[in-house]
Amino acid sequence: MTKTLMEYQQNQPWIIKENSFDNNFLSKCESVFALGNGYLGVRSAFEENYIGEKRDMFVSGTFDRFDKSEVTELPNVPDFIQMEFVINGRNLDLNLGEITQYSFSLNLKTGQLIRHFIWKFADIHLEFNFRRFVSFDDLHLLGQEVTIRNLGADTSFQLKSGIDGQLTNSGSQHFAEGTKDQEKNRILQMVSTTAQSRIDFVQSTIHDFSDRSLIDKARIEISRRQIHKLYWFHLKSNQSIKISKLSNVYTSIDRDLNQKTVEYMISVSANVLNFDVQKGFDYLLKKSALAWEEKVWRDFPIEIKSIDFTDQLALNFARYHLHIMVPKHDGRMSIAAKGLSGEGYKGHTAWDTDIFMLPYFTMTYPEIARKLLTYRYLGLSGAHKKAALNHYQGAQYPWESAWPSNGEVAPVWGAADIVTGKPTKIWSGFIEQHISSDVAFGVKQYIDATSDLRFAKFEGYEMIFDTAKFWVSRLEYNAVKDRYEINNVVGPDEYKEHVNNNAFTNYSAAWNISTAIKVYEKIKQQDSKSFDRLNKKLGLDKTYRQWKEKLPKLYLPKANKDKILPQDDSYLSKKILDLTPYLKDDAVGTLFHDYNLDQVNNMQITKQADVILLFCLFENIFSLGIQEASWDYYLPKTMHDSSLSLSTHVVLAVDLGRNSEAYQLFQKAKNIDLGPYMNSSNDGIHAASLGGIWNSVVEGFGGLRVIDGKLRIEPHLPKEWDSLDYRINWHGARLQISETKEDFTVTFLNSNHLNQIVEFMSKGQKYQVKAKGSLRIKL
Ligand code: BGC
Repeated sequence: MTKTLMEYQQNQPWIIKENSFDNNFLSKCESVFALGNGYLGVRSAFEENYIGEKRDMFVSGTFDRFDKSEVTELPNVPDFIQMEFVINGRNLDLNLGEITQYSFSLNLKTGQLIRHFIWKFADIHLEFNFRRFVSFDDLHLLGQEVTIRNLGADTSFQLKSGIDGQLTNSGSQHFAEGTKDQEKNRILQMVSTTAQSRIDFVQSTIHDFSDRSLIDKARIEISRRQIHKLYWFHLKSNQSIKISKLSNVYTSIDRDLNQKTVEYMISVSANVLNFDVQKGFDYLLKKSALAWEEKVWRDFPIEIKSIDFTDQLALNFARYHLHIMVPKHDGRMSIAAKGLSGEGYKGHTAWDTDIFMLPYFTMTYPEIARKLLTYRYLGLSGAHKKAALNHYQGAQYPWESAWPSNGEVAPVWGAADIVTGKPTKIWSGFIEQHISSDVAFGVKQYIDATSDLRFAKFEGYEMIFDTAKFWVSRLEYNAVKDRYEINNVVGPDEYKEHVNNNAFTNYSAAWNISTAIKVYEKIKQQDSKSFDRLNKKLGLDKTYRQWKEKLPKLYLPKANKDKILPQDDSYLSKKILDLTPYLKDDAVGTLFHDYNLDQVNNMQITKQADVILLFCLFENIFSLGIQEASWDYYLPKTMHDSSLSLSTHVVLAVDLGRNSEAYQLFQKAKNIDLGPYMNSSNDGIHAASLGGIWNSVVEGFGGLRVIDGKLRIEPHLPKEWDSLDYRINWHGARLQISETKEDFTVTFLNSNHLNQIVEFMSKGQKYQVKAKGSLRIKL
């Protein structure tokens, strides 16, 4: 059975929906329908238990290391979601009896999750309606509600619901048990502390009923790592009951708490919940929906008029998820590769954030982008640690990072090697080094788009300098060729390990160093105070001399006689395998059923956009001819086994004027999480691919780019679209950009400065638009 979560809702671009219950898709749906607010992230497991489910709730930044043999990860916090119903002596179970009117849906605009069905089994005939939200208004709050209507004869119920700390991260139990208590106002409370990082968690929950007189009996139950309340009630024929469960979580690293003692957290948590229960589920949900509207949707709408409404749906879906995973409340945290929606990548942050998600935030919510960059700034200490360990200088950013000062946290061993039967070694944490220039790239794009000078002076420039300092210490001199090289790396294509002179790595390192040189020269001249401070801190004068001396000799691979840019020194001489059978299969990683990574390493097989990404980020360097020839060469060799790949291909395909190919690739990119395959969503949503959806729409088809610090707008709408409307922030000005196939209009909506003028380029021409003005350009 194939299942596309987009296909049910004709012309409803804000709803994703499942119309039948399917045990095989539990895990995928838990990720795709996940709820959150950047502080809290909850997989949408059902209230009742099923085989194959994965209940996970995470609080951003609360990393813990279970054991020295493991890397630190986001712990799976004790669960609130579970509510166990025993009805006429039988467990509620959708695998039994007859289910009608089933629907499971998420409203992307309000963040409300609804599950509805009628269950007929033996002497039971009931209608259930479950509603749930994680508040976008109060970061700590989660609300659940169940309405049960009895469609049959008198029915008896037992409900068991509370807080369950018996969950683990795939077996690793991160919490030491603290107190479990029932506060006098019916609130259940549980305290737990992460074993190694010693972060205290206080969790509280309270139940409320539409009609308390229906409750025959209630009692508390406490067991190991669990605290529950048991309720017994009856429903007569046609009678209904509404049960609400409000819960909250506080931790000792929360910035919004005045005190971090457990006693204080216990009292805050209970007090807030007491107020909340008086306000009620509906009111709290409304406040949350309003916060979504005010903080996300209202100011930056994006509208695609397409023959296929799922283009808009996929974009809304991507934006929804980007906002539930971004910890905008705290610069000590960043977005994980799976957001807060699953245990994949252990809550770690990768280049996914800097290259694939940051553009969305930089151009639309710069204050959030700034937080993500502060995380990188705080990560300098971890980056110094990594550089020192490898005998380099400056900032070598970790391939995977958790708490900013931790340094490298990438695991060393991965999936089974089909040939040796042993785990495969993961080299990324050791030699995938382009992450340092990726961070600098994100920093520079942010400064270019916002002209946030405070950030530039006190955080941004330092990161650009420190990463360039790393690169110059990393370069290896090849005396025979009289040039500097970067050998023994993994580039973006992780199917090529220990390669020399990966083009992406070398070009991006060169960009990093040359940007540092430009910034050095500029601030030395224009801002001596900042210059002196940074010079003293980083020894810039000496490093500058090294940059100037080595950069001209840094080897930058050139295209061969067929105009193909070699991905690295050895790629083009490797054996070619016909990938057609594997490319036909929509599942990911199928190649590894037949080959191990060593074998794949020795063939011309690319996991994800590598040279193609280089063209996207540094488009001015390469001629169209090189880009065309390289596209034709690499595409049939690219497995798209990373979700980062397709959207990059969409953007370049548009640049190459291959619009219908771009649109087809966009359809595939939309399907990564919402489509019928990619079981890998089981471990969480593909965060970078969601950033990639925005990139495909706005940077790809919309043609919006920041090139060498300048704004450029060159729309190329696919034939399936009538128009595209979006807004961006540029240097503090808010612009509305409305594009059709014939023309586009830039409207200057508002700005902090009355006399501001915004400049942009299009097809080599320079344009200006004044505050409150508007400019229409024919294509
Ligand atoms: C990709 C990386 C990416 C990581 C996390 C891997 O499969 O190859 O580029 O950073 O997933 O999304």
